[in-house]
Amino acid sequence: MEINEWKKLLIPYEQAVKELKLKFENIQNEYRKLDEYSPIESVSGRVKKIYSILEKANKKGIPINEIEDKIEDIAGIRITCQFVEDINKVVKLIRERDGKDLKIIEEKDYIKNIKPSGYRSYHIIIKYPVQTAHGEKEILAEIQIRTLAMNFWATIEHSLRYKYNKNMPEYIHDRLKRAAEAAFILDKEMSKIRDEILKAQELFETKSNIVREIFKNIQSLYNISEIKEAGELYKKFLILWEEGDIKKLDEFNKKLDTLAGIYGVQKL
Ligand code: GTP
Ligand code: MG
Repeated sequence: MEINEWKKLLIPYEQAVKELKLKFENIQNEYRKLDEYSPIESVSGRVKKIYSILEKANKKGIPINEIEDKIEDIAGIRITCQFVEDINKVVKLIRERDGKDLKIIEEKDYIKNIKPSGYRSYHIIIKYPVQTAHGEKEILAEIQIRTLAMNFWATIEHSLRYKYNKNMPEYIHDRLKRAAEAAFILDKEMSKIRDEILKAQELFETKSNIVREIFKNIQSLYNISEIKEAGELYKKFLILWEEGDIKKLDEFNKKLDTLAGIYGVQKL
């Protein structure tokens, strides 16, 4: 296949990765804006490199003209979560969209069925329609959902596997197995303290939202030249910030809202 044909083939995959990534990031942002805990910690995506596609096709005996049907992860999205419990939530979110903006083809639960390597992750293979300049095209994509600990392990294992290319020394192999065990225990420990962490994070989320609002307000007031108090307001904010009392910060912000209202300031 010519390089130009490859480029053409990969365009819809690039588009799909961009769109899917944005969609999941938007869900994450929505939770954050509402001061709610987001089951999505981060989202990344990539299109498989031509070299890796060829390598995989070769390994699995897939003819070039069947690549698009047989290689499910040319488009790949990875969603990381803080807790194992969050993975179920994300899976549910995706299932609710089945038949809407995507179609679920297969689910692979490597968390219940840990791979012999020690790999844990939840995979969902989807069909995703892309609107291209030449009409709609349905492509396959793989969504990997895993915790930070699972991701940490998989990343290291992947690079070591790549480095040793099948000739992984026994002791590295053993160490990876133990690391997988440690990641598993870490996830279990995290689940135990999940409730406490959640409470702390929500508080943090609320606090950072209030501070963001305060800054917007002060900035808006500052933009109106008549308001000389903006500098004073900032100093007041710093004092309250040092104190760290959320209630006081919230009250301060409400006062700023009123002030902005009086001056008819457009909030940024
Ligand atoms: P490949 O493993 O890519 O050949 O695909 P497959 O058709 O066998 O599907 P599978 O669900 O086994 O793997 C899909 C993807 O999951 C891979 O491309 C990797 O990103 C990831 N994965 C699967 N097994 C492992 C593993 O043992 N270690 C690591 N680091 N990643 C894995
Ligand atoms: Mg595999």
